[in-house]
Amino acid sequence: MANPGSLVTIHMAASLDGFIARKDGRVDWLETVDEFAGGDTMDPGFVEAFLETIDCYVMGSRTYETALRFEAQGLGWSYGDKPTFVLTSRELPRTRQSVEFYTGDLTQLVNERLRPRFRSIWFVGGGVVCGECLRLDLADEIRYSIVPIVIGEGIPFFEKLDRDIALHLAEVKSYKSGMVELRYEVRGHRGG
Ligand SMILES: NC(=O)c1ccc[n+]([C@@H]2O[C@H](COP(=O)([O-])OP(=O)(O)OC[C@H]3O[C@@H](n4cnc5c(N)ncnc54)[C@H](OP(=O)(O)O)[C@@H]3O)[C@@H](O)[C@H]2O)c1
Repeated sequence: MANPGSLVTIHMAASLDGFIARKDGRVDWLETVDEFAGGDTMDPGFVEAFLETIDCYVMGSRTYETALRFEAQGLGWSYGDKPTFVLTSRELPRTRQSVEFYTGDLTQLVNERLRPRFRSIWFVGGGVVCGECLRLDLADEIRYSIVPIVIGEGIPFFEKLDRDIALHLAEVKSYKSGMVELRYEVRGHRGG
């Protein structure tokens, strides 16, 4: 049974033209150099405390493979020791206890396994899995970090949406780095 106190958030960073990665999966463009004088500074203490409020992560296999590549390059693992559910139909290396693989019905995973157990459930990519999450009406909110760059083509934020989804703008923050963070609530969702 779904836990009414649970919140499913989709969060990714994207270029201004709505891409989360280049067509070949590279995210080198995420490192931009910009300065917006009126923006906030990201306080590492605040970020750390905020990350603590996230109870589990969900990601697609291609995002997981990118995370493993980053780790192999010495860039660390971004998800701490929080339970991390990786959607895949393949046999992938399991590099830590906190990683669990899942194949099958996403609605069942979210509503029957995750919502009863976790309050703050974060979908962190990629476009295929976040598109599926939104299409199946599983997401409560979308956090969209716009990076100050246009890359022309790539993997879109949401893949294969078959209808419009109305949103309510709930929060806007801008940062000195030129990044703008938007938080939208999904309208008409779960009686909201
Ligand atoms: N800018 C950002 O914030 C950001 C965030 C995350 C990712 N990314 C980038 O986005 C790219 C990956 O995105 P993507 O859209 O190509 O792929 P993705 O969403 O990460 O992964 C898609 C894969 O997940 C598996 N999958 C999806 N639904 C499933 C289900 N219900 N059951 C079982 N498996 C399922 C399938 O893989 P199998 O073949 O394994 O079954 C599918 O091909 C990477 O380049 C990554 O670096 C960027």
